[in-house]
Amino acid sequence: MCTMINLKQVKPFNLKVTCEYQENPIGIDIRTPRISWKIEAGERNIMQSAYQIVVATNGNFTNLVWDSGKVLSDQSIHVEYAGATVKPWTRYYYKVQVWDSKGRWAWSPVQYWETGFIGEKWIAEWIASEEEHLETRACPLLRTVFEVREKVKIARIYATALGLYELELNGVRVGDALLTPGWTAYNKRLQYQTYDVTPLLCTGKNAVGASLGNGWYKGYLGFEGKNHIYGDTLALLCQIHITYEDGNTEIIMTNGNWQTAEGPVLMSELYHGETYDARLEKKGWSRADYDAVNWEKVRVLEHSKEILIAQEGVPVKAIEEIKPVEIIHTPKGETVLDFGQNMVGWVKFTVKAEAGKKVTLRHAEVLDKDGNFYTDNLRVAKQTISYTTKGEGREEYQPHFTFQGFRYVQVIDYPGEVKLENFTGIVIHSAMKKTGTFSCSDELVNQLQSNIVWGQKGNFLEVPTDCPQRDERLGWTGDAMAFARTACFNMDTALFFKKWLGDLQVEQMENGGVPVVIPNVLNAPFNTTVSCAWSDVAVIAPWTLYLCYGDIQILKDQYESMKAYIEYIRGQAENGVLWNSGFHFGDWLALDAPNGGFKGATPNDLVATAFYAYSTDILAKTAAVIGNHEEAQEYRKLHADIVQAYRQEFFTPNGRLAAPTQTAHILSLMFDLVEEKNRKRTIDTLVDYLDKNSWHLKTGFLGTPYLCHVLSRNGRADVGYKLLLATDYPSWLYQVTKGATTIWEHWDGIKEDSSFKSPEMNSFNHYAYGAIGDWMYREAAGLDMDENNPGYKHSVIKPSLCKTLNWAEAQLDSPYGMIKSKWQIGENGKVTINITIPPNTTALVTLPYAKKDGVTESGQPLVSSTLNWKEDSLGVNLNIGSGVYSFSYKAEGDQILDVPETKQRMPWE
Ligand code: BGC
Repeated sequence: MCTMINLKQVKPFNLKVTCEYQENPIGIDIRTPRISWKIEAGERNIMQSAYQIVVATNGNFTNLVWDSGKVLSDQSIHVEYAGATVKPWTRYYYKVQVWDSKGRWAWSPVQYWETGFIGEKWIAEWIASEEEHLETRACPLLRTVFEVREKVKIARIYATALGLYELELNGVRVGDALLTPGWTAYNKRLQYQTYDVTPLLCTGKNAVGASLGNGWYKGYLGFEGKNHIYGDTLALLCQIHITYEDGNTEIIMTNGNWQTAEGPVLMSELYHGETYDARLEKKGWSRADYDAVNWEKVRVLEHSKEILIAQEGVPVKAIEEIKPVEIIHTPKGETVLDFGQNMVGWVKFTVKAEAGKKVTLRHAEVLDKDGNFYTDNLRVAKQTISYTTKGEGREEYQPHFTFQGFRYVQVIDYPGEVKLENFTGIVIHSAMKKTGTFSCSDELVNQLQSNIVWGQKGNFLEVPTDCPQRDERLGWTGDAMAFARTACFNMDTALFFKKWLGDLQVEQMENGGVPVVIPNVLNAPFNTTVSCAWSDVAVIAPWTLYLCYGDIQILKDQYESMKAYIEYIRGQAENGVLWNSGFHFGDWLALDAPNGGFKGATPNDLVATAFYAYSTDILAKTAAVIGNHEEAQEYRKLHADIVQAYRQEFFTPNGRLAAPTQTAHILSLMFDLVEEKNRKRTIDTLVDYLDKNSWHLKTGFLGTPYLCHVLSRNGRADVGYKLLLATDYPSWLYQVTKGATTIWEHWDGIKEDSSFKSPEMNSFNHYAYGAIGDWMYREAAGLDMDENNPGYKHSVIKPSLCKTLNWAEAQLDSPYGMIKSKWQIGENGKVTINITIPPNTTALVTLPYAKKDGVTESGQPLVSSTLNWKEDSLGVNLNIGSGVYSFSYKAEGDQILDVPETKQRMPWE
């Protein structure tokens, strides 16, 4: 018997590939898309030694358009396509081969991306329904019927609208994206979406229909009571591209032959809700056999098609469902559903009644201190859904062109008994992938983490908003600036921010100033206001994305915008270095605000110059990263000058920081504005301020995100923990103990006596203070990166052990794969640290308070292992490769951090 030798190797690892952050995207207009892959392998020390990418226009790769050849490189993210010029409306198949450092190799599965228009002209016409700009008209429906000659091979719909649209084809809803085409600076950039509708078409007659709603384009937007900001006419633009089996193609498009009629949505506004009369439904209106005799002809509208761009951001989708937990009968006699979670989206409900009965629901975030339904903080936002039954058995409804921020729903009208089972909360947000988790031994901190994530879900809806419930919901730049790094831990925000930064670029003023709200929809003076820290998002956000996703392209794309902003400040600043002019929001909502105002006590010129220094430093680093060394040099010099001016202006000759606020000390330390010889004094003063305030913060939007970082970077992580774990007012956990399920706008949104801060500006879903999440991941759990190797190519794992918690853990699905860091303190000070590092990356790990002889790794003594370690006064440091590690050692108990005692103070202290 002869034995066959199998020369095929066992697959050593799996590859998970994406193109422009997506799996098999269709309709992308990038000429040189980037391909990334994660290597999935459990083994230790896996590094990539080479890769090869092949791209073809067919799945068996006979029509090759690019073969990178074997490239000796460890690059595995954002490898740019460098083949033949890509054609519009074409699918490109690709696969990647990777060799590891042990000479083994594997191929990825075949994947694809598909181009959209890439600059090709649209031939469809914008169509609108006659006169619908009159306020009283219902949301219009538009439709047409078309013939499909024979068997279809491929069919795509490319669609967009002025306003919001929902498409149906042959009676079936097209796609699952909500609130399309999303929100951009509509007058300059308008996204179109691409849908694969191949399975929805049939030979013979077909029908396509769209319903349109006001949304951000035409509806009420902002707190100034304005509507029609971008235009007063809703319109649709759509092309259906059909490729038949025989290779012939055909395009169906919006034109003057379409028909229109009013639909059953009588009113729809983002803030106010929706009014729907099911009796007015036009049954089967998007099917070919529908009789549209009474429908009118559409009107062809002149509107730019030059502004069209392929979908850039992440579409909004229905992500999860929540069932209400309780029916409350309030002291005022209201019937209220409690969903147990402050959420954003809407309620789907069922009802059974004769025709003409009403269901009316109003949405609110909180009950007042007496337990009554409370809507004052929504200001003029009505957040009301009103539905009229058609009387045909069980009816189910969910709104189309609106969303609500709520935990409680008042059932104002409902025919029959109100039962929990008839209501479901639908959570919607931009469909970003979850990437991070943080948990620890303290349940209140875990609730805080949950609140941070829910704040992100609710406010990452098309643009990063300040709040999702009152008549605001705007892209306030300061809030996004504060929260960006935390956001990148919790979810993959790369495309979400990329799109928004595209809008920032086009909204940037001639003089380089960056508006405080993007898209820039407010009236004067807001639309021309430039405020430090708010406008700095133009620099801070691209840098954050570069760090978290290793994406240099984002820096290249934003560089001119970043530079223009710094040059704008230079033009405003005294001698080009001290920014002591103009309006600034300052340390917004800080507790040291004079006279109970909103703006903290830290002086404007200090805050503005501090951020100017910080952003200039980032710009210099950016210039270097993208290879512009001359400008890097210039901005390094400017940075040094700003720092010098800052020291002269804000520090006394003896080294005291003259502004006696927590935030002044925090910003000075965080942005490295303190001379080394004054560092100790500055951190000691900050700690003293906290101590004198019985270990409580007074910081607002600007000091808060950096407070704990500054403490732990200067040897006072103990104080950082003390602040994190405090439960009395003001603190992060105070609101948790008050039942918060999202992050509040104010530290005292609900006061200790359960009364409210104020009716006019009191959101319970404002993520800015959730920026502590960044510290929880990076410091508490110790999952951080080396900025010189961004995207977590080289992680830095350095947990902060603290006795008050006995464990903490963070996980992050990084661009290279899953990173984990978990520490635990067991009996007698036994410390266990479990770490996972993904393939093709390395990490520097610190085991705090460890002595080399006492450490074991997976049960083996460290000293006899092959690991690369070094002991110093802080513990044992290791350089490790990919894999799973478990370190154990005994730390001397009194070395592990303990939070400082709170002393009783005399009243005069
Ligand atoms: C928003 C903020 C925003 C601020 C600017 C508020 O109305 O809700 O979060 O940053 O205005 O001052």
